[in-house]
Amino acid sequence: MKKQSSIPPAAVQVTLLDISNKQFLKSFSKAEVDFIQNEIKNKKDKFTIQHFGDCRFYYFVDTKDRAPATLEKWRVKGNDLLAWATSNKWEAIQLLSSGVDEEITYAFAEGIALGNYRFNKHYTKKEGKETVVRHLFIQDSHLSEAKQRRLFALVNANHLTRDLINEPSSHQSAEQFSAQMVKAGKEAGFSVKVLHKKQIETLKMGGLLAVNKGSIEPPTFTIMEYKGPKAKNKQPIVLVGKGVVFDTGGLSLKPTPGSMDEMKCDMSGAAAVVGLMHAIASCKLPVYVVGLVPATDNRPGMNAVAPQDVITISDGTTIEVMNTDAEGRLILADALVYAKRYNPELVIDLATLTGAAVRAVGTYASAIMGTADEKVMKGIAQSGFDVWERTMEFPLWSDYGDELKSDVADMKNLGGGNAGHISAAKFLQHFTDYPWVHIDIAGTAWNSGAQAYRPKGGTGVGVRMLFKFIEQNYS
Ligand code: BES
Ligand code: MG
Ligand code: ZN
Repeated sequence: MKKQSSIPPAAVQVTLLDISNKQFLKSFSKAEVDFIQNEIKNKKDKFTIQHFGDCRFYYFVDTKDRAPATLEKWRVKGNDLLAWATSNKWEAIQLLSSGVDEEITYAFAEGIALGNYRFNKHYTKKEGKETVVRHLFIQDSHLSEAKQRRLFALVNANHLTRDLINEPSSHQSAEQFSAQMVKAGKEAGFSVKVLHKKQIETLKMGGLLAVNKGSIEPPTFTIMEYKGPKAKNKQPIVLVGKGVVFDTGGLSLKPTPGSMDEMKCDMSGAAAVVGLMHAIASCKLPVYVVGLVPATDNRPGMNAVAPQDVITISDGTTIEVMNTDAEGRLILADALVYAKRYNPELVIDLATLTGAAVRAVGTYASAIMGTADEKVMKGIAQSGFDVWERTMEFPLWSDYGDELKSDVADMKNLGGGNAGHISAAKFLQHFTDYPWVHIDIAGTAWNSGAQAYRPKGGTGVGVRMLFKFIEQNYS
C-alpha cells in the first residue's frame, strides 16, 4: 500500500468526526442531522451514507481519549473498514479527520495499512489472493507529511518482517536469509556484511557451529550497521535476533503434530531486527545501530550435536548441551559475545526462545528481562504498551542461574522444569557485560489465527515497539 498524493477517483471516504464539536453537523441536511443525532444517542460508533456509487463512512471520535487501549481499538476499526473495502472491491480509501487528534488518525490509518497484507508468493494463481486496496489517501493537514512518512516506513518494515517469517525454510536457508538482509540494506540504506561458515569457524563461534552440525546448509552470521547523519550516540545500540530458520529440535526432536508445525517462525527475532534496521534507515533517524543475526536451521542430521556433548562458545565458556532443542541460547551466546567488541551503549535481543514464555503470559505479551537501568526497562515497556506490543517483565534472580550448573562444564543449556524463560535469560546474561535487554517473543511472533490487523502467520512484533523506543530515547 502506498501513500497517495492525489485523491484517486473511486475511493471509500472515511471521516473521523470530533464528537465534542458539533460544528460538523453543518455540512449535513436536516434529515441527515436528525439521523446522526439519533445514532449518537444510541451510542453507535459510526454511520454510513451511500448514494450513486458514493460511499462515505463517518466515525464518532472522543478526541480526549488517547489511552493505548483506545488507540488499539482505532487500529482494529481501521482494519474492519479495510475488510469492508476489500470485500466490496474498493481500491482506494480516503481518510479525513479534520479537528481530530493526529494520534487517533494515525492509529486508524495504521490499522488499515497493517491489515492490508497477504503472503501470496507461493500461489501459482494469484486471483483472490492479492490485496484489493492499493491506495490510502490522507491530507497533510489531517496527518502531517512527516507522520505519514513514518507510518508508511513502519508499515513497510513490518510487512518485510512478516514476509521473512512467513517464508518457509525450503526457500530460506541461512544463506538465503542473509541474502534478504543484503537486499534490505541496499533498499533502505544500511551496510550489511555476511560472515560465512569459514569465518564463523575462524571466530570460534562454537554455539552457532554446534547447532548447525546436524544441517546440510551452512550457517551465517550477519552484521548490519546504520549510522544516521549526526548520530547522537557514540557507542551503538546493538540489536540481536535469533535466526533459526527452522527448529526441529535437533536430536531432541520435537513431537509432531503440535510443537514443530509452526517452527519456520523461529527466526522472528532476526526478522524483527531486519525490519527495525529497515525502518530506522528509511526514516534516517539520527542514531547509531548495529544488527547481529546468527542464522542456521536446527536438525537431527548424522553429525548433529548430541545431548551431553560439550561445546565451547566464542568467549571460551564451555557448555554441556543437555537438550538440543534449547538451541536458540547457543547461537545467541556467540552473538552476545560478538556484541562486546562494539562497547555498546545498549544491547537488545529478540528471540522466539522458550515455550515457557508462552505459558507464562500467553500470546498477549512478550516476556522481557534485562540488566539495563530502570529508565531503559520502563521505556521499552511503555513503548510496547503504546503501540500495543505489550511486554511483561520477569526477574533475573541468581537462583534461576544456579539451575544451569553442570557436572562436567561451565554451564549446561537447560534449567529446571519451571520458569524456563528465566533460566534461558540467565544463560544469555552470562555472555553480557553491558546494559542488556532480552525480549522473548515466542508467544507474540506468530499468530495461529488472524487477530484483526495481524493476519495469521508472522506478526512483525518488535518492530513498532523498538522503533518508538529508539526514536524517543536516542534520536
Ligand atoms: N523455538 C523454541 C521455542 C518456541 C516455542 C518458539 C514455541 C515459538 C513457539 C525453542 O528453541 C525451544 O525449543 N525451546 C525449548 C527449550 C527447552 C528445551 C529448555 C522449549 O521452550 O520447550
Ligand atoms: Mg528449540
Ligand atoms: Zn528454537
